[in-house]
Amino acid sequence: MKDMNSLQNIDWDSLTFSLTPTRSMYMATCNAGEEWDPGKLVPFGDISFSPAAGVLNYGQGVFEGMKAFRTVKDRIVLFRPEKNAVRAAGSAQRVCIPPVPTEMFLDAVKSVVKDNADYIPPFGKGSLYIRPVIWGSGPILGVAPAPSYMFLVYVSPVGPYFKSGVKSLHLKITNQYHRAAPKGTGGHKIVGNYAVSLYPQQLAKKSGFDEAIYLNAADERFIEEVGSANIFILKDDVLTTPSLDGSILPGVTRASVLKIAREKLNLQIRQRNVSVHELLNADEVFCTGTAVVVTPVGMITTNLHSQTINNNEMGPITTQLREMLLGIQQETHEDPFGWICPLDE
Ligand code: COI
Repeated sequence: MKDMNSLQNIDWDSLTFSLTPTRSMYMATCNAGEEWDPGKLVPFGDISFSPAAGVLNYGQGVFEGMKAFRTVKDRIVLFRPEKNAVRAAGSAQRVCIPPVPTEMFLDAVKSVVKDNADYIPPFGKGSLYIRPVIWGSGPILGVAPAPSYMFLVYVSPVGPYFKSGVKSLHLKITNQYHRAAPKGTGGHKIVGNYAVSLYPQQLAKKSGFDEAIYLNAADERFIEEVGSANIFILKDDVLTTPSLDGSILPGVTRASVLKIAREKLNLQIRQRNVSVHELLNADEVFCTGTAVVVTPVGMITTNLHSQTINNNEMGPITTQLREMLLGIQQETHEDPFGWICPLDE
């Protein structure tokens, strides 16, 4: 096993959320109707597919996002990795991909993290982003599930997701585009969900916003999510986030924040429809996700006007939730929920 304490010569202070190629990735394959073959570590690099691969032609692919941290206890930990394993299996089922068994998923993730331990940023300087993907890799011309599949796990050291770091975001509510339809695929981590968010995101960024907020497709009365993250509002001592009705991603960070809020900050928590009016009148607004962690929202623009939230500053509850979550992940804070999964155990 690698020396877990050796480090690559990387400028850790300049990390952004972008790909730094590492030593290795995990790869396993499976024929439709059969078990997954035992996978192995291979050098990180390009792979070749038929141009008729199911994922390339029909988007038959799912992914996950997870992180490994080098903690204050000088060890490497994962955060609730079994939640990602279970979610990946649900996403896979939705697009007819043979689910990867939980144990295989977790072993794959751990083996890639261990083999690339020298790419995990020092304590407090970022994390190792872990990207499991499961694709229909075999050729298929008619619209049907592919004849074979590939499960890959690659990793990259990362810093903050947004260019502004943890500065408050300025979001635009879009009613030009929807992210997910009722009874569609929004509640799963399917590649196509992210493809359809690219153009609205590009329009928002061109107009100077950090991202778009999507409304529910049925009648545009409620907010859904931010495309790359879930959204929360705080009013008095009630923390509310849109309920998981099938079009919203069941975020691991979302679930963790709800639990910390209720059990550690004694807030009331609600999962229900959230109207645009409530969003604009909230005391604090923030986004959650593996990539974005807990990121404050300081301004929201509708077609009619812009509304500042908490004087465009990170509010006290957002700050506490962010600090507690990061504290648990980096072991500066006790882990009351048993969420941390040390690599050496
Ligand atoms: C994550 O938060 O890990 C995500 O997958 C969101 C985004 C980077 C696609």
